[in-house]
Amino acid sequence: MNIHHLLSARFSQAIQAMGIEDAPIPLSRSTRPDFGEYQFNGAMALAKQLKQKPRDIAEQILANVELDDIASKLEVAGPGFINIHLKNDWLSQWCERALQDSKLTVEAHESKTIVVDYSSPNLAKEMHVGHLRSTIIGDAVVNVLEYLGHNVIRQNHMGDWGTQFGMLLAHLNDQLAKSSVAETALSDLEDFYRAAKVRFDNEDGFADRAREYVVKLQGGDLDCLRLWQQFIDISIQHSEEVYKKLNVSLEREHVMGESSYNHDLANVIKDLTEKNILVEDQGAKLVFIPEMSNKDGDPAVYIVQKSGGGYLYATTDLAAIRYRANTLKADRTLIFTDARQALHFKQTEIVARRAGYLAETDSYEHCPFGMMLGKDNKPFKTRSGETIKLSDLLDEAIERAAVLIGQRESSLSESEKQQVAKTVGIGAVKYADLSKNRTTDYIFDWDTMLSFEGNTAPYLQYAYTRVKSIFRNAKQDMDTYHAKVAVASPQEHDLVVKLMQFDEVLESVSKEATPHIMCSYLYELASLFMRFYEANPVLKAEVSEADRNSRLGLCALTAKTLKTGLEILGIETLESM
Ligand code: ARG
Repeated sequence: MNIHHLLSARFSQAIQAMGIEDAPIPLSRSTRPDFGEYQFNGAMALAKQLKQKPRDIAEQILANVELDDIASKLEVAGPGFINIHLKNDWLSQWCERALQDSKLTVEAHESKTIVVDYSSPNLAKEMHVGHLRSTIIGDAVVNVLEYLGHNVIRQNHMGDWGTQFGMLLAHLNDQLAKSSVAETALSDLEDFYRAAKVRFDNEDGFADRAREYVVKLQGGDLDCLRLWQQFIDISIQHSEEVYKKLNVSLEREHVMGESSYNHDLANVIKDLTEKNILVEDQGAKLVFIPEMSNKDGDPAVYIVQKSGGGYLYATTDLAAIRYRANTLKADRTLIFTDARQALHFKQTEIVARRAGYLAETDSYEHCPFGMMLGKDNKPFKTRSGETIKLSDLLDEAIERAAVLIGQRESSLSESEKQQVAKTVGIGAVKYADLSKNRTTDYIFDWDTMLSFEGNTAPYLQYAYTRVKSIFRNAKQDMDTYHAKVAVASPQEHDLVVKLMQFDEVLESVSKEATPHIMCSYLYELASLFMRFYEANPVLKAEVSEADRNSRLGLCALTAKTLKTGLEILGIETLESM
């Protein structure tokens, strides 16, 4: 249930009943508990339009709005706000219905086909921390969209093509000739890349051979393609190991690398030429973008083919847009990369729209993210200044979590503790990232992310196990628990309103591609639960049976919401820890 939509509909009816059509319905969450839960802010604008006093208009709306079933109190406040206090009976009924459902139900949405382009590492190198954000933010957004019933198509636009492969293939060819197998030669892509680069810079003749490989590769030479395929396969396997460790949903079938568009790039150029969008300049082909002129009035220049005939990242992205529109039938495309690519995607969209590759109603959304910084506020690197391999970072997370878990009192076996360490360690890294506003840089700090206090994965995972243990003590099955719920105390009231807002949160995350909204929500929910649990004991002897059952119902709903929310973020929960 989406409270916001429900209230909006009621206010809309009331205003129509007053003879006013198409008025905006601005409704927000109240900022103070004594203002109730929601606030309607539309009276002021209407008053201006109708040349009346805002408070009078607010009174008229109050007289017309039908909210007896939902609200315990409605009041006009300040210059003409309408404060809405939700009714405990209504909250209780909602809880009882929600307990009957096995899954948290959400309002039906119009289902769209949404392409999500995320992770997309470059296969010439090992995945590094820069791809952590793209991978996990993208995956969380994918989960939200799927939960809302959209048809989501994952696209891992891997960097598997381009001139750098010439040098790598020449080096691989030599290694294989020296009786090494590809798996061994490529066991550490970082080392392999470095060795190839050293040869490229220093060894006589090697750079020329590397260039020959590029020509052969682009010309479709079969031996060269076979070598390239070997390289790509092994590099994708490296990424897949990371995906598995990270518990993200990307599979081989979602890989649609740059090379997949190679056959279509000449067609893109031909099409842009026919549509008179291209300009030739000293052999290069480019598009002028007057929409993005500099301060001297010169249009931005978007190159799609180099003077030597080579294509660019941009050409591939145009081909990708055509494929996604024509073949995948995307209504909406979301692309997750770091903020430095913002200009590229803005220009790409303008060119694609001019060429008619995107329908007017199709949206194309670059979802940029900031950098991951070290405690020194500089890009996150190893002590010796090297980029950190994602896989090493994740192993470290598990080790650090294991140390912490080892210090806690627990009855878990060693292997259970190892499982807990994995779930907590990986969860902590992912959550620390997801909980930050996507667009800003953030500081990677082991101590805060692994803390059991504050807005962290361990805190939420722990809150979940607490509810689980209440049910163990009550000897009840949480998943099938039904009860008559009577919301009474202020803590119960606040907790249930929060539970009901899950739907609104999913909606914001899906609109803005911002998982941190879900994180803040879950943290607030867990905190409200702790407050409720302190004020309203569940299993104590003096608690009546009716109260106990009702409160157990609230516990079950809280746990279900925490679990569903964390799962959507790609974070696992535990039965105990
Ligand atoms: N491979 C690119 C990188 O590592 C990201 C690709 C994003 N997707 C796209 N359609 N350009 O920066």
